Amino acid sequence: MDELAELAIEIAREAGGLARLRREEGVAIAATKSSIADIVTEADREVETLIRSRLAAARPDDGFLGEESGADRGESGITWVVDPIDGTVNYAYGIPAYAVSIAAVRGEPVPESWEALAGAVFSPPTGEMFHAAQGAGAWLSGRRLEVNARPSAAGALLATGFGYNPATHAGDLARVGRVMPMTRDLRRVGAASLDLAFVAAGRFDGYFERGLQPWDHAAGALLVVEAGGRFARVDLADNPGRPLFVAAGPGLFDELLAATGSP
Ligand code: IPD
Repeated sequence: MDELAELAIEIAREAGGLARLRREEGVAIAATKSSIADIVTEADREVETLIRSRLAAARPDDGFLGEESGADRGESGITWVVDPIDGTVNYAYGIPAYAVSIAAVRGEPVPESWEALAGAVFSPPTGEMFHAAQGAGAWLSGRRLEVNARPSAAGALLATGFGYNPATHAGDLARVGRVMPMTRDLRRVGAASLDLAFVAAGRFDGYFERGLQPWDHAAGALLVVEAGGRFARVDLADNPGRPLFVAAGPGLFDELLAATGSP
């Protein structure tokens, strides 16, 4: 297996074990960040510290970009993009839908131009490890993943999320209204990395959300693409700084993008 993917898997599994242990011990919200919904727990910080130290030991020349501890430019041209606990609100409330997300990217560590090389999304509550490497497919428990080629005649099972910026919520709700005619049902899991992993696994037909951060989608987007799906980042006219992200199989992608790709 790809060396970077192997490392992402190994560290995501260890980090997920720590997150799960801390969850069992009881979790408290340590601080709110950009808005009242945007929280961090001590466990987020501790898990990110663990991931960062493991990566630094294994690949000291690589850069790091993490949700909780910021960025560090490396010298190798490879950067690790990390969300220690994606789905922090679920985690804080004891809802078993959160994940450790670790990706290795090449180039400038910005999603507009980076090349995703490897990624792992680990779900501690279920023990599922989704992983991918560029050109080598997306995998779950030894099974190669494939997106749903076409949603069923009953409509697409879609997922979405509502970013932390309240200024975009009216548009988010209007977008939900526009997609409802094509859906069988709509899910809001609360962890973007899992939403994307589920698109890769064919559990969801598509996913859209405005305002994701790089660590929310770095590994998940690679999973989708390696599973034969499409992933796009779209700047919207009202606020290009809060792009929309859309992921789906090839049979649904254009329709979903047309329905969602405006403010
Ligand atoms: C959040 C989750 C959530 C999504 C937010 C993300 P975090 O990540 O993925 O589902 O709606 O946009 O920021 O803060 O739990 O790591």
